[in-house]
Amino acid sequence: MKYAQVLVTAILLLAISGCEMGPKSGRGFSLPEGDPEKGATTFVDLQCNACHVISGKPDIKQIASPEVTVELGGQVQRIQTYGELLTSIVNPSHKLAKGYPDAMIADGERSKMTNYNSAMTVEQLIDLVTFLQGAYEIKPYVPTHYQPYY
Ligand code: HEC
Repeated sequence: MKYAQVLVTAILLLAISGCEMGPKSGRGFSLPEGDPEKGATTFVDLQCNACHVISGKPDIKQIASPEVTVELGGQVQRIQTYGELLTSIVNPSHKLAKGYPDAMIADGERSKMTNYNSAMTVEQLIDLVTFLQGAYEIKPYVPTHYQPYY
């Protein structure tokens, strides 16, 4: 790499990391471990199961028939961090769930998910995140099968 390229790369890296360390970044955020069983109860108590089902948890039955049911849990390429899961709950419009047409799950840029911020306790939130995180698993890696080359 030429000197100029090294310099540009260094400046870019500084700019990127600079954004991550700003006062509004998630830096320093650490969630205590919750109780997944209480999280499951909270999920039903707060009627999250009006709009969601959870993969691998058939006992949590859906109690409504919304336009779209968003499935939580199951096999994924990467398990969401608790920061991402918590954000999905307290600030759902920040990043909409993948795999659904935006028009189905949002009105404009606003998620159709209920806002619980003045109804939920912090403990309920922590338990929910712990419970939900445990419902995801990494998709097993399937190696490509190559034909032997003769
Ligand atoms: C009125 C329907 C509704 C209710 C009730 C609801 N949600 Fe949602 N939820 C949605 C929709 C629609 C989305 C997809 C849009 C988005 O990502 O915000 C979503 C997305 C999510 C996601 C992100 C999923 C992903 O794959 O990124 C999580 C996590 C979640 N909800 C958890 C909850 C929890 C926990 C509760 C109960 C405290 C709840 N939701 C209650 C409608 C709802």
